[in-house]
Amino acid sequence: MNLNKYFTIDELRSQAKKRIPKLAFDYLDGGAGTEENIHRNRFGFKNITLQPEYLRDVTNRNQKVTLFGHVYDAPVGISPMGLANLIWPNADKILAKLAKERNIPYLLSAVGTSSIEEIAKIAPDHTWFQLYIPGEDYICFDLIKRAKESGIKVLVLTVDIPEPSIRLRDLRNNFTIPFKMTPKVIMDIMRKPRWALDTLINGVPQFKTMMPYMKNITKNQSLNAAQVLQVSARLNEDLIKRVRDSWDGTFVIKGILSPKSTKAAMRVGADGIIISNHGGRQLDSAPSTIEALPQIVNAADPELTVMLDSGVRCGTDIIKAFASGASFTFTGRTFMYGLGALNEPGAEFVLDLIVNEVDKTLAQIGCKHIVELNSEYIWHNK
Ligand code: GLV
Repeated sequence: MNLNKYFTIDELRSQAKKRIPKLAFDYLDGGAGTEENIHRNRFGFKNITLQPEYLRDVTNRNQKVTLFGHVYDAPVGISPMGLANLIWPNADKILAKLAKERNIPYLLSAVGTSSIEEIAKIAPDHTWFQLYIPGEDYICFDLIKRAKESGIKVLVLTVDIPEPSIRLRDLRNNFTIPFKMTPKVIMDIMRKPRWALDTLINGVPQFKTMMPYMKNITKNQSLNAAQVLQVSARLNEDLIKRVRDSWDGTFVIKGILSPKSTKAAMRVGADGIIISNHGGRQLDSAPSTIEALPQIVNAADPELTVMLDSGVRCGTDIIKAFASGASFTFTGRTFMYGLGALNEPGAEFVLDLIVNEVDKTLAQIGCKHIVELNSEYIWHNK
């Protein structure tokens, strides 16, 4: 693989599209409804102009960020992704290993395709566990117990799936796990030999963390079944408080998009929130996260750590998020595009692209340490 051929995440995305079967690529790349929210996320970032300041010594630059007592080496972590190993074989483990080696957080999805226990063993100090509250309470509390026993220190509760969203690409593709092997799907997989071979070697991905709770589910229903394990229309403050009270580590709520929900998150005892629209995968008409950020930061007490994901595609986006008040950022798809394009080295390649751009942008705008960014670095057309 020639790494020097790629300079942007978009280029990696195009290459990944050629190497990942369509059903899996569309699941990764797509979103809810007409995918306006995905575009809005990008537009939100593009719409912000930075204010460069020169005449300052920016020889030594720093992008380390302290979060919940841990000093991370980069201002970005890896968002939770369901079915990661289906999109690229072994993705969960590769990403967890990268997180440990490069000292950034890896958020393992509850509907990921590796178990909490496996991933916590690979990256004990860098794995955060992302939880849904599925239909039955015992599942959630059992997952919390397993996370604790695995030594996980940060629990992330995702709250933005009161109903499965309408994902048109998946519906049109008739996407199930395992795939329905129609002649069209078989032909497609034959054109993706590296994915096919690695999947053959590693076995068909399964919802490893959730498997103990899926006993009565037949194989072909398993995608639906996984969605059932994510959905909780009844999630209210009382229930979240019970989750909070059963967890003695750091507690983060992901999927916040308004000041009201921010206040609710503080009432139930969250240490942090991730402003997120699930990468444009839930409510097509949701606001972009970067646009929702300033009013949320305004509503948050200073003790609440406000982080952001959804739409982050490059280092400059991260600078814009920090300048708008975020304390940390996450991105998921970018890492998967890297893996799909370049196999295992692609994940680290993506991190290098991002970190390099953060560094160069800090220099250009005259800021030495990412945590010193503030709204003065945003160009306001007065
Ligand atoms: C999983 O959380 C997804 O958005 O598909």
